[in-house]
Amino acid sequence: MMSNKTVLLYTIAAVAATGGLLFGFDTGVINVALPFIKQEWNLSETAEAWSVSAVLVGGMVGSLLSGRLADGLGRKRINILAALVFTAGSVLTAVASSEEILIAGRLLLGLAIGVVSFSVPLYIAEIAPGEIRGRLVTFFQLAITIGILISYLVGFSFAEAENGWRLMFGVGFVPAAILLAGMFFVPESPRWLVSKGRDEEARQVLNRLHETDRVDTEYQQIKRVNDEEKARKVDWRELFTKRLRIPFLIGIGIFLIQQFSGINAVIYYSTKIFNMSGFGSNTTSIMATVGVGVVNTLSTLVAVRFLDQWGRKPLLFVGLIGTAVSLATISFAFFFRESLGADLLRILSVGGVYVYIFFFAISLGPLGWLLISEVYPLRIRGFATSLGSFYHWFFDFWVSFTFPILAASSLGTNGGIFMIYTAVCLLGLLFARYIVFETKGMSLEDIERKWQKNPETSVSRT
Ligand code: BGC
Repeated sequence: MMSNKTVLLYTIAAVAATGGLLFGFDTGVINVALPFIKQEWNLSETAEAWSVSAVLVGGMVGSLLSGRLADGLGRKRINILAALVFTAGSVLTAVASSEEILIAGRLLLGLAIGVVSFSVPLYIAEIAPGEIRGRLVTFFQLAITIGILISYLVGFSFAEAENGWRLMFGVGFVPAAILLAGMFFVPESPRWLVSKGRDEEARQVLNRLHETDRVDTEYQQIKRVNDEEKARKVDWRELFTKRLRIPFLIGIGIFLIQQFSGINAVIYYSTKIFNMSGFGSNTTSIMATVGVGVVNTLSTLVAVRFLDQWGRKPLLFVGLIGTAVSLATISFAFFFRESLGADLLRILSVGGVYVYIFFFAISLGPLGWLLISEVYPLRIRGFATSLGSFYHWFFDFWVSFTFPILAASSLGTNGGIFMIYTAVCLLGLLFARYIVFETKGMSLEDIERKWQKNPETSVSRT
């Protein structure tokens, strides 16, 4: 039986995770809306490219700009700000009367996605007790996958409707309004409160959310680590010192591998991939795409269940081996397409995509957001997490931008592009072995103390 406090924690994490749903919805919806906009407005190639990537550019800007704001304004207010921008972006894209307005709306949505992509996992990690932190932060990834799935289903339902694409974008208003309203009712992060000297409030939040017999110890631990950091005048420059080299590398590495494993080639362009493998019609390819959404969401539930029990590293290893094998299978299927015949090519490529999504969803998907929310010291956590999120959008931009170009070249027809993604997953094994460390069951303060053992720093302090 769950205690009332645990139920409350889950509810708060679910409200915050609505930000993830918006992330998934607004990145996924372009996949299904774009063909209709293209038809109606006769979009140029450039306008088309911008309609897709404006969100990713917005994501880069949003995550960078708001990192220090999250340390200054607090985790709650920054999420409220993002929810407001989401609302404005959804309305603007739904009523856009020209491609410029549409792109501006997509840019706004991107800004908001950039903010929530770091502020939500960060917030959840900071309110969660260590033993269920993995599970609660993975709610965020689960919400992303649900958002993607909803966007595919919405696309499917409104495909025949008049002004269908406007309705598709407009649906995003609903979760944005829920996030906005919900954020007023959740408490501020106790760790952020302590960092601002608002100790009494922090204690009250811990009392409300965590089991009474451990609140004192937790509070003392947060306070102690915060005081130590304060005494050492830790600031954002610390991230670039030798002492924090490992968390710094984790932030870049996990997203480099996550994105260059080709995930968004599948999430944004699966319909195209299924067409390339010989599906007769767009409709069957879209149905297969809905299947991608379903497998993605269901497999993330496996991660929610097992991340705290099995640990981060074992799942990462299993996930990387599975993604590498499935990507190699897709690559071989395209390479030997002539000798395999049409049916076998379809089975291997579609099967390969589904198996790939399964392994991604139990490992690289949730781990990206989880690791960047837990490996940094408190006083620079906002800045460092936002930088991690920036890398995500930066790498995402390059993979999504290059995929259609590469797919149209010989690397697309002979499967070479999937071989590149395979190689990245194999390199990921080295990263998992030598850089990532296990954080299962540790409190954020335990993790932080790891870095304090090595006080070497190259930042000059005034
Ligand atoms: C990634 C997204 C991706 C999604 C797929 C997330 O973890 O950050 O780029 O589209 O997973 O489920």
